[in-house]
Amino acid sequence: MTVIDHVPSASTLDEEADAEVSPTATAGTEAERNYQALVGRLSKQSVEKHFNPFTDIDWDHPDFAIDVADPRWAAFADVMFGRTAWFHSLSEAEQSRLGLYRIAAAMKLGLEFENILKRGLLEYAFKLPNGAPEFRYLYHETIEEAYHGLMFQEFVNRTGLPIRGLSRWEKIGSRNVVGLARWFPSLFFLFVLGGEDPIDHTQRKVLREGAPHPLVERIMRIHVTEEARHLSFARHHLKHEVPKLKRRQRVRLSIAAPILLGQMAQQMLLPPPQLVKEFQIPKETLAELKRSPEAKEAVCDSLGKVRKLCVELGLVNRFTVRLWKANHIWADPA
Ligand SMILES: [Fe+2]
Ligand SMILES: [Fe+2]
Repeated sequence: MTVIDHVPSASTLDEEADAEVSPTATAGTEAERNYQALVGRLSKQSVEKHFNPFTDIDWDHPDFAIDVADPRWAAFADVMFGRTAWFHSLSEAEQSRLGLYRIAAAMKLGLEFENILKRGLLEYAFKLPNGAPEFRYLYHETIEEAYHGLMFQEFVNRTGLPIRGLSRWEKIGSRNVVGLARWFPSLFFLFVLGGEDPIDHTQRKVLREGAPHPLVERIMRIHVTEEARHLSFARHHLKHEVPKLKRRQRVRLSIAAPILLGQMAQQMLLPPPQLVKEFQIPKETLAELKRSPEAKEAVCDSLGKVRKLCVELGLVNRFTVRLWKANHIWADPA
């Protein structure tokens, strides 16, 4: 079994790129050349370091076996529910099942988010002219995300749990997000960061603190390694494109950003509806989770990088900062 010794640090790729791509890059030739060079480097790295979940994960290794009664799964439930009396009223077996259910539901949501993301990337690539360096990179990213979808779905399948994911109406609604990639790409790439940044933040935290199960550790290491490129591309694409937007579009983006990110943060704060139903989580426990300052702070933290980027892009002003605060996703810069 191969081991990934080095996961690019949270911002290694960004720091390299930031040295060359100014936050206010415009269509000026030097800024344009630097941006194109960055996209070319990301494409090259995608060829040099990539994974296939069916050759890079030994799914049948005894250490990777998934047993719903394994007490190590409880750690994944403890993170969200640990401070509630309801969680401590469950038997150890139920706590383990809840933990496995939670991580499997998160992987299902992740693969459905990435399904929307891939459709948007292809929609965006569809209108690019011959020779555009983004075309090759977007295809590399789409291929990597397809492997992530296979990897997450394989994990979900092996749990044997009845994980359903998004509702029918949410799936229909996802078409609007895909359409954004065509008519308002900057808002689409903010949506991308709003999903990918918190996932990356959470997975890196789990890896730092020690993943309770080796299969989850393997999956997360593969994921964060490839996500570093995706995050770098989305950030630099926004730095390259937002300064070129018309004033009217920038105003719309500055208003839409906190509303969109606020909705995504709400989803992170609470367990998915099917998990609530499956474990009959009491309303008072859900209200407790929603009110919890620690949980709100954790969600707000996970959006730290995308918030900082919005400030850099000039999308936060004294009017729109109120929307960030109303959505509980604002923290004053340190
Ligand atoms: Fe991914
Ligand atoms: Fe990604």
